[in-house]
Amino acid sequence: MGRFLILCLALISVFLPPALASQSYVVYMGANPELTTTSVKPHHVMLSSLMGSELAANEAMLYVYNNFNGFAAKLTPEQAAQLSEREDVVAVLPNRKNHLHTTRSWEFLGLEDSYGNVPKDSLWAKSNYGKDVIIGVLDTGVWPESKSYSDEGLGPIPASWKGECVAGDQFGPENCNRKLIGGKFFLKGYEAEEGRLNTTRTGDYRSARDLDGHGTHTSTTAGGNFVPGANTLGFANGTAKGGAPLARIAGYKVCWPSTADSGGCYDADILAAFDEGVKDGVNVFSVSLGSDPPLNPLFADAIAIGSFHALKKGITTVASAGNSGPTPGTVSNTAPWILTVAAASIDRDFRAFVVLGNNVTIRGESLANEELDASKLYPLIDAASAPAASSNSSSSKYCLPGSLDETKVKGKIVACLRGITARVDKSYQVRVAGGVGVILINPAENANELLADPHVLPGLGLTYESGQEVYNYIHTTKEPLATILPARTVVGVEPAPVLTSFSSQGPNSLIPDITKPDIAGPGSNILAAFTEAHAITEEPNDSRIVKYNIISGTSMSCPHLSGVSASLKALYPNWSPAAIQSAIMTTAAQTDNTKGEQILESSNNASTPFGIGAGNVNPNGAADPGLIYDNDYADYFTFFCALGFSKNNIKAISGESFTCPQQRPKVVNLNYPSLTVSALGQSETVKRTVTNVGAASSTYTVSISKPDGVDVEISPSTLSFSALGQKKSFTVTLSKVTATEGYVFGSYTWSDGTHSVRSSIIVKSGAAPRDVSADDLN
Ligand SMILES: *[C@@H]1O[C@H](CO)[C@@H](O)[C@H](O)[C@H]1NC(C)=O
Ligand SMILES: *[C@@H]1O[C@H](CO)[C@@H](O)[C@H](O)[C@H]1NC(C)=O
Ligand SMILES: *[C@@H]1O[C@H](CO)[C@@H](O)[C@H](O)[C@H]1NC(C)=O
Ligand SMILES: *[C@@H]1O[C@H](CO)[C@@H](O)[C@H](O)[C@H]1NC(C)=O
Ligand SMILES: *[C@@H]1O[C@H](CO)[C@@H](O)[C@H](O)[C@H]1NC(C)=O
Ligand SMILES: *[C@@H]1O[C@H](CO)[C@@H](O)[C@H](O)[C@H]1NC(C)=O
Repeated sequence: MGRFLILCLALISVFLPPALASQSYVVYMGANPELTTTSVKPHHVMLSSLMGSELAANEAMLYVYNNFNGFAAKLTPEQAAQLSEREDVVAVLPNRKNHLHTTRSWEFLGLEDSYGNVPKDSLWAKSNYGKDVIIGVLDTGVWPESKSYSDEGLGPIPASWKGECVAGDQFGPENCNRKLIGGKFFLKGYEAEEGRLNTTRTGDYRSARDLDGHGTHTSTTAGGNFVPGANTLGFANGTAKGGAPLARIAGYKVCWPSTADSGGCYDADILAAFDEGVKDGVNVFSVSLGSDPPLNPLFADAIAIGSFHALKKGITTVASAGNSGPTPGTVSNTAPWILTVAAASIDRDFRAFVVLGNNVTIRGESLANEELDASKLYPLIDAASAPAASSNSSSSKYCLPGSLDETKVKGKIVACLRGITARVDKSYQVRVAGGVGVILINPAENANELLADPHVLPGLGLTYESGQEVYNYIHTTKEPLATILPARTVVGVEPAPVLTSFSSQGPNSLIPDITKPDIAGPGSNILAAFTEAHAITEEPNDSRIVKYNIISGTSMSCPHLSGVSASLKALYPNWSPAAIQSAIMTTAAQTDNTKGEQILESSNNASTPFGIGAGNVNPNGAADPGLIYDNDYADYFTFFCALGFSKNNIKAISGESFTCPQQRPKVVNLNYPSLTVSALGQSETVKRTVTNVGAASSTYTVSISKPDGVDVEISPSTLSFSALGQKKSFTVTLSKVTATEGYVFGSYTWSDGTHSVRSSIIVKSGAAPRDVSADDLN
């Protein structure tokens, strides 16, 4: 860790970002001061005095933020260090790069039936499809010609809206309407680090227009209008629509093609987008991007900072958990005021089969739209046995570029191992070498995760186990033969949902006593609108432009929850972000579609809160949660005390004076809808408060499912309410009965006979943390 980012307010690690050699930095100075005089430009003055001239300061300044106190600028590490020593600077963040981490899914979630009818208790019916709520999507932009952005059936743009569609390359106000009401782009942070965007080389647009397709997919998943007959290459045909079909969409383009990899979304640009979105009047931010652990401290993390200052305005932020699972501790976007989303499957497959010469038929997944002659068998080889002269079998078994020998591959079906390169690139390599089909085999690491891919020739993906059967057949048969039967869309698949293996997992590496992710939603093989700027795969020769694409990721599950949050916001305009989060978490589904079995992970093990959070989203349940665990802006101040922030830290970040209690509060006492004790000593008593949002007069009793080796007592065990909005508190005492190795899981549920309000309990035994009084820290 370098020494140049010394923080002035208090030398506690909570603010210390990892030192990176950046060319640009975000200077974060906390909340806006109470009285801002608009005539002076304090940040420019600050920078001028640092740089010695106003001109130099103007050149260096990238953004001055409005919704909080701070700016982004091109600085040397020495200048960054100097600024970080100032009294009024909370943190100086290197301008770090983040990454981007249908539609049957709504029917699967119960918002409509299979005929597209919407039941009376549907969140959609109750919220009028999220009418007039504004969803701001931080992503790669929008493809405005998509029918999913049609404004049919929408009234005038809400009067509160102050945003616009900013003119740029092939995009401007003429591309917007009453559905797509905003389009802005932010790339000063990108260009400070990577140089000027080369539109010729990258093909990208200097505007909110979406080259990549990711932003079009996520934004239409959140708030797309109804589009009948949407499909990808004929697959998943149906009416596409978002989670809040009558909501409005504003695209904030913050991710750009990066020289190093597939794309980059820089902190300075992300914060600028949050800033503009707040000013424009966004109600829900949808953020399908993030960084991977090691995570930056809360107030050195752009998404945590942006969402915290949005929270003050009552704006919900929904973010993806990341695609680094199933390794434990990989979850990102872990601030408690963010709704953090894991990815699960729905009950739809794109099922294809390989038939081997011994008549064994093996099931796989595919979106390939070319077909082999199914009445005929083709020679089948393991790609490991067909290396080009210039390559070797360890490269060719993965079908890496240039690794295959044409003479050995021509006319054959080729089995390639998944990994290293893009799945669709392997099928392209087989095609280049003259092969007729591809069988893509999972390695042991992601044994059961099957993603349907639009291969450029007939082909399919197989699980690890099925793949071993194919390899076995090849290696024990003199003349191995096979054919591939074309893929078909199948619905009603069991079990579903299943947590995807790529979905990032807890525990929360930053704040162990706040378990993340919070919730799971559909994120596997999701259909939504796409860019028409390039073909479905970006392989050479692929000319298949699609209006809708089927892709997977927590990037896809995140906007499902953004849409649900927007619909809840339409139904309950006065609910806080914490109330929306609580309603979604406490009503989540625990069981799959097979006779009420507990939701599985793709390993076939039962899911835990580290994978699936509170469970799979149940939107209609969230519309009527009964009780909520609420928090307002100021409630997070006590949480900051628990993290060890000083009075000055809290004043700086929040803009408000707050004195931490003498006895240092505990993170676990944040009024969160789940309960985590990551180091349980002998016992721990936790306080929670619920607010009645169900029937005015109601009585709830609690039932407990104890984690192994832990006793749980809740007092009182009955809560009686006589009015809406009434609050009641209770305590949960966890006592260690037997020391456990690793984490154990349980739950407690309040029920009035109509509503079930469930919270996960997550516990690990350990030494009780040292009690620190606030005095130690100031
Ligand atoms: C942009 O990319 C094109 C094509 O790769 C290249 O010819 C051109 O020199 C680049 N421009 C700049 C300014 O780097
Ligand atoms: C999709 O479904 C619609 C309505 O049922 C039908 O008219 C259309 O032909 C279908 N398209 C495809 C490609 O299957
Ligand atoms: C496979 O099945 C076909 C049709 O049922 C049959 O004619 C053929 O002999 C079988 N081949 C093997 C190897 O069992
Ligand atoms: C195989 O080829 C690759 C790429 O040319 C090379 O990196 C690797 O070391 C080779 N492996 C063996 C076992 O020769
Ligand atoms: C790619 O397209 C070109 C031109 O249409 C064609 O000559 C070539 O054979 C194609 N290559 C592959 C691998 O399909
Ligand atoms: C599944 O559960 C078994 C038994 O608890 C455990 O040994 C195994 O590691 C688990 N597998 C995964 C992938 O988590």
